[in-house]
Amino acid sequence: MKIDFVLNGRKVSAEGDPMDRLLDLLREKFKLTGTKEGCGEGECGACTVLLDGEPVLSCLVPIFQCQGREVMTVEGVAADPEAQAFLERFVQEGGVQCGACTPGIIVTGWKLSQNKARLRRGEIKNALAGNLCRCTGYEAIVRALERESPS
Ligand code: FES
Ligand code: FES
Repeated sequence: MKIDFVLNGRKVSAEGDPMDRLLDLLREKFKLTGTKEGCGEGECGACTVLLDGEPVLSCLVPIFQCQGREVMTVEGVAADPEAQAFLERFVQEGGVQCGACTPGIIVTGWKLSQNKARLRRGEIKNALAGNLCRCTGYEAIVRALERESPS
């Protein structure tokens, strides 16, 4: 099938089997390798992207579900001028260790921080419950998000 969708703010088209994984389409066809494959079965959150603004696990999303919709990857977040302060705080707090979980956490965290003056610890932990970090960098990650307050 041919699918047309918006990817990081740009209209794109792609051909594929309807059940192809969004994760593979992003990495292989569009070379957006920021989105990582960890477990490949919906357990780790490394493959998180935004679909119409909501976090989804791209290893579980068949491409037919993206028809006519908007996908944003970590590359899209990184290119957003409004995300720059958030990304800098993430680095300053030491929220990145090996980096395997980082794209998924950035995408989830960016979504969480939008339209919020202040994030509470509990809501950060809840939002990140599906994003596993094997480097146990959670404390720095939570700190970076706690400090988030959009200007
Ligand atoms: S790779 Fe998708 S949840 Fe782990
Ligand atoms: S920084 Fe290594 S898995 Fe999170």
